[in-house]
Amino acid sequence: MYKTHGCGDLRAEHVGQRVELAGWVNRRRDHGGLTFVDLRDRSGVVQTVSNPELSQEAHAIAEQVRSEWVLHIVGEVRVRPEGMANPNLPTGEVEVEIQELEVLNQAKTPPFKINEESEVDEMVRLKYRYLDLRRERMQRNLELRYNVIKFIRDELGQRGFWEIETPILFKATPEGARDYLVPSRLYPGEAYALPQSPQQLKQLLMVAGVERYFQIARCFRDEDQRGDRQPEFTQLDIEMSFVEREDVMELLEGVYSSLIEKLFPGRPVSVVPWPRLTYQESMDRFGSDRPDLRFGMELVNITDLAEGSGFKIFEGAVEAGGEVRGINCVGCGHFSRREIDELTEMIKPFGAKGLAYLALQESGEPRSSFAKFLPSDRLDAVIKRLDANPGDLLLFVAGERDIVLESLSRLRAHLGERLELYDPDALSFCWVIDFPLVQWDAEGQRWDPSHHLFTAPMPEDLSLLDSDPGKARGLQYDLVLNGEETAGGSIRIHDRGLQEKIFELIGLDLDTARERFGHMLTAFEYGTPPHGGVASGLDRLCMILAKEPNIREVIAFPKNQAARDVMAGAPSEIEPKQLEELHLRIVE
Ligand code: AMO
Repeated sequence: MYKTHGCGDLRAEHVGQRVELAGWVNRRRDHGGLTFVDLRDRSGVVQTVSNPELSQEAHAIAEQVRSEWVLHIVGEVRVRPEGMANPNLPTGEVEVEIQELEVLNQAKTPPFKINEESEVDEMVRLKYRYLDLRRERMQRNLELRYNVIKFIRDELGQRGFWEIETPILFKATPEGARDYLVPSRLYPGEAYALPQSPQQLKQLLMVAGVERYFQIARCFRDEDQRGDRQPEFTQLDIEMSFVEREDVMELLEGVYSSLIEKLFPGRPVSVVPWPRLTYQESMDRFGSDRPDLRFGMELVNITDLAEGSGFKIFEGAVEAGGEVRGINCVGCGHFSRREIDELTEMIKPFGAKGLAYLALQESGEPRSSFAKFLPSDRLDAVIKRLDANPGDLLLFVAGERDIVLESLSRLRAHLGERLELYDPDALSFCWVIDFPLVQWDAEGQRWDPSHHLFTAPMPEDLSLLDSDPGKARGLQYDLVLNGEETAGGSIRIHDRGLQEKIFELIGLDLDTARERFGHMLTAFEYGTPPHGGVASGLDRLCMILAKEPNIREVIAFPKNQAARDVMAGAPSEIEPKQLEELHLRIVE
């Protein structure tokens, strides 16, 4: 071993000990004939000092070293001289007097500073990811992720779950994205598909009698990238037999609650049982199926008050079958016209034609884009419905229901952050349940599963599958944390007949269904237990726990937003020989 201690572990109790350290030069300073080298390793930073009077030889080397060189140091821990302690550094009370110094490796000047938090272009960070990961913030994120996954593994083990690996080279497992394909060399024209999730395999493990399965599973989805998406990402994947919806929700609730209690004590977290909102309720109150419950500012429906109100825009929306809803931005009555215009611009991409406002003043007439059109009793009713007081700003969107909900939910999320309406440490969980089983896809002119093909309909809604499929609800649940979808799951269909009926409903003819999912249908004929499960996006969970703005920050080697690995250069061109072996030809 090159080291007896981690640099960051040295404390006053080590004073007088001879230690060996190894790590990177965080910083070097020459001062009053002495050379100070801050040495850094995974555990932190410690100050080392070289004094020519102690070792001429070591000092000659110390004077030469530069940032990020790799050193091996032997020395004695001592208390820093009077007044020189650094209270901001865990090792700040001590320093190591260098007796021997060996350069293990030199380093070029890195493309960005490793020893301080500064804005660095993400392309550069990703290109030199190994240097980026050397930075303290990233080391903490890697450590956090390891701790989270380790906790989950231990906890599920204790609860009787088996961790089972499932293949990566498999057959398409659709979760609504495009597949990544791996062409087969042995079978011309055939390909494996990388799993979008282990969904089919974990269900087959239930047929196999495993009863309680989990996996820290890599999933692959070729879809448009966003801050909370990666082409390959990691799920905590769970499946259980002989359970009902509540059992699965309670399990994840229990695991995550104890995780936070153990690893993040002191952070305000939702008390179990976490709130359960139906899809309808969530859409109605928050305009989204990912409600951020860290703050209020709920959407208020004033469609009935808008009807015949005298304000053409409101009236027109209602006549066209739309809605009018508003939010109350408490204490924002002072917002300038320009600020309100900016908010209006913000929601236009979501289809909103405008943003009507009513800014109630502490004294005098309100400022408003529409108040003058409304009879005073209507206006009073609107103010009352939104529970508004002088000093508040009311914002309204009129139009098609979907547009109104999405615009206001975006506005709400934006204002919640901007007005700091929540504690940045807060972890606010809720379940959204009772989703519609299928959604109408106007483009494809067919029903699409709103979760996936294997989700069971609610028993009381079975008859709706024939009469009014859009109204049938699924036995499905999404877990939302601080407005992010952090898990999704369902009770599954375990009956061949019902599964075939769902295939039919979504326009998958039986021949195609049997070709794609024949193994599932066959398995269902051999004594399949009732089962259900859930999968949670671990990247998203870690992102929120680490208070990072995107999931790339908690993934060691992520793809960039254009789905490329800019460090290694992937994807890369296929060599002609490989194309030939794979029986492929590139079409220009
Ligand atoms: P679903 O598709 O909802 O369900 O995925 C489960 C969770 O995985 C996370 N997630 C992602 N994270 C990062 N990048 C992505 N591209 C990405 N896509 C999804 C989300 C999501 O909630 N087999 C089902 C689960 C089940 O029914 O048991 C499934 O995969 O946090």
